[in-house]
Amino acid sequence: MSEATDVVAFKVEDGIAWVKFNRPEKRNCMSPTLNRRMMEVLDELEFRDDVGVLVLSGEGTAWSAGMDLKEYFRETEALGLKGVRKSQSESYGWFRRLRRYQKPTIAMVNGWCFGGGFGPLFACDLAISADEAKYGLSEINWGILPGGGVTKVVVDLLPMRDAMWLTLTGELIDGKQAAAMRLVNESVPLEKLEERTREVANILLEKNPVALKYAKDAVRRVGDMSYDDAEEYLVRMQEAANSFDNEGRKEGIRQFIDEKSYKPGLGAYKK
Ligand code: ACO
Repeated sequence: MSEATDVVAFKVEDGIAWVKFNRPEKRNCMSPTLNRRMMEVLDELEFRDDVGVLVLSGEGTAWSAGMDLKEYFRETEALGLKGVRKSQSESYGWFRRLRRYQKPTIAMVNGWCFGGGFGPLFACDLAISADEAKYGLSEINWGILPGGGVTKVVVDLLPMRDAMWLTLTGELIDGKQAAAMRLVNESVPLEKLEERTREVANILLEKNPVALKYAKDAVRRVGDMSYDDAEEYLVRMQEAANSFDNEGRKEGIRQFIDEKSYKPGLGAYKK
């Protein structure tokens, strides 16, 4: 990868930022160093004009083997509460940053995804898995509950029985099972993973970027609102989006109503 050769690698190509967990020898588990670096990389990419979509994947056989049990847990606990809180804020910080990212994001899950890895998995807007990937809430296997938001992630994404199954058994599921459970959008053979992810990214790249940002935020936020609150919120958000992007949506309406050059039901207007 061209722009960094450290614990987070990235390159930008044809509108897509390909970001990788890059500790393959440690199965891309998340150390404090990796968490700090990821925040820097997200900062660097978020408002670049040449980035329309961010894809998060892992180098080697893992997407991410969760939190680094040595550097994230044991070594920070040795520093006392101050150390623990610092490392928590660093990891939760970039997960939160990703959940609210300016550009749409896709988790391209190429391999192992454990425990804390469910944080960034959920933070990405869409998720495409390799059939060969393996997912597990292994926390129970070493005696903790799925913290760092992970229990919330599975309860939000999955039916209660599936969330409880993963949480209590620590059993692995593969990509196809993850897609059947709707933990990810879809699952394809590993050799097709990048190609399929690029196709999905290209669908997003055709859309109005302001509308994408407001729409993804709306999907994440209205779930906890009453119908009336959501209706009000969506009216206000559309008005806020309009103030950014008067021309884009007017152009979309023009091409459909006046020019009759496309149908919004079947694809995006020409930017
Ligand atoms: N934390 C710290 N080190 C790790 C982690 C981790 N989460 N995952 C892997 N490593 C290290 C191993 O200690 C090993 O280091 P070493 O080469 O210095 O001995 C190296 O990465 C390679 O790991 P192996 O276990 O040899 O790799 P293998 O491919 O055989 O197995 C697997 C991969 C299944 C992912 C295994 O490494 C594993 O079980 N990892 C832990 C998964 C886990 O439970 N993560 C924590 C989830 S809970 C949470 O995140 C809060």
